[in-house]
Amino acid sequence: MKNRGKFIVFEGTDGSGKSTQMKMLASYLNERGARCYLTHEPTDSPVGSLLRSCLTGRIDADEHTIAALFAADRLDHIHNPVNGILKKLNEGVNVLCDRYYLSSFAYNGGFVPLEWVIELNRPAREALKPDLTVFLYLDAEDSMERVMGRGETERYETVERQKKIRKNYLDLIARFPEENVATVVSEADKRDTQEKIRKAVNGLFGWRE
Ligand code: TYD
Repeated sequence: MKNRGKFIVFEGTDGSGKSTQMKMLASYLNERGARCYLTHEPTDSPVGSLLRSCLTGRIDADEHTIAALFAADRLDHIHNPVNGILKKLNEGVNVLCDRYYLSSFAYNGGFVPLEWVIELNRPAREALKPDLTVFLYLDAEDSMERVMGRGETERYETVERQKKIRKNYLDLIARFPEENVATVVSEADKRDTQEKIRKAVNGLFGWRE
């Protein structure tokens, strides 16, 4: 049987550079012969597409519904027999994922009771915990600047809101030390940020620098 792949999650406020850093990490892992599969939440599945419509306001849904849809999308993401995360990991592929259940806790847990969101995500958490979560820490102002630069704003995108979400993340990281979160300050030069992420990942794979 092949060695199981590693599951590495990227978390952060909107515009913190997750997807760029994830791609940079994938090329590093590929160079070292570690195969990778890149994925994200909300997913591109029917449930994920429904969620995107809720986030842009095309569909009007209440916050409980949204939180429950995120949990459902995540369970399908984990268990899908065609392209689910567990399937990939069992094939020996490393999975890099843009957002996972900490996003639900930090975002949705600010609108509906956090303990309920944690409970909703218990099946996902029991089925699959990340081997490493990289939390990209970015000033709320910088975060909004980057988001505005993309010319699109979604449901959760205001400076006050980003500040609140960032605080939620920090509280959650302190509350769940078993989650193995590496907090990495998102630097102006993305190569500096990547350098720090690679250090954490080298540790995970048992690689020397
Ligand atoms: P995404 O498209 O990944 O935005 P970004 O590129 O800014 O990271 O995520 C869309 C939004 O969904 C983002 O504002 C965070 C929110 N979200 C939740 O509220 N709960 C969740 O469980 C997840 C995965 C995302």
